[in-house]
Amino acid sequence: MRRAIFPGSFDPLTNGHLDVIQRSLPLFDEIIIAVLNNPDKAPMFTVEERVEMIDEILPSLGGNGCHLRVESFSGLTADFARRCEAKAIIRGIRAVADYEYELRMALMNRRLEPSIETVFLMAGEEFSYVSSTLMKQVFLLGGRVAGLIPESVESRMREKISSASS
Ligand code: PNS
Repeated sequence: MRRAIFPGSFDPLTNGHLDVIQRSLPLFDEIIIAVLNNPDKAPMFTVEERVEMIDEILPSLGGNGCHLRVESFSGLTADFARRCEAKAIIRGIRAVADYEYELRMALMNRRLEPSIETVFLMAGEEFSYVSSTLMKQVFLLGGRVAGLIPESVESRMREKISSASS
């Protein structure tokens, strides 16, 4: 069983994340989208909301023979990957600027868990500037993010804002 985890904050999931998941499907039998529960950060969505949003979207990806599921985790990614008996950690690289941070993380994860490889996948160039942070910022300032995040995520963002302002 070739199992991988795709860890991240996913606050929120973007079409760039979905692109990386799509590209990973032919490479693995099972991919666990692993949502980090990081109490130090003040996210827009709770970890439960992020898991729920991803869970809603996964069926639309089809899977192409790869089983997809979503889980939350706390603590080290390397420990979570070991507990899942994953062989790989998937990370998306958008532009060269991502490489240095990702390399450090991959090397640290390899030191923590030498049996697990990090697999880097290049996100589609149309997503090279898409990040969760940028999407939140543009959305909150009234800019258009259609095509860059899933529609269901955009409506959740709209709901979040209207509930915060009421
Ligand atoms: O989507 P992000 O925010 O770029 O994801 C970063 C993430 C969650 C993969 C990274 O922060 C992480 O692995 N955090 C868990 C704690 C950990 O393992 N830290 C050491 C990494 S070398």
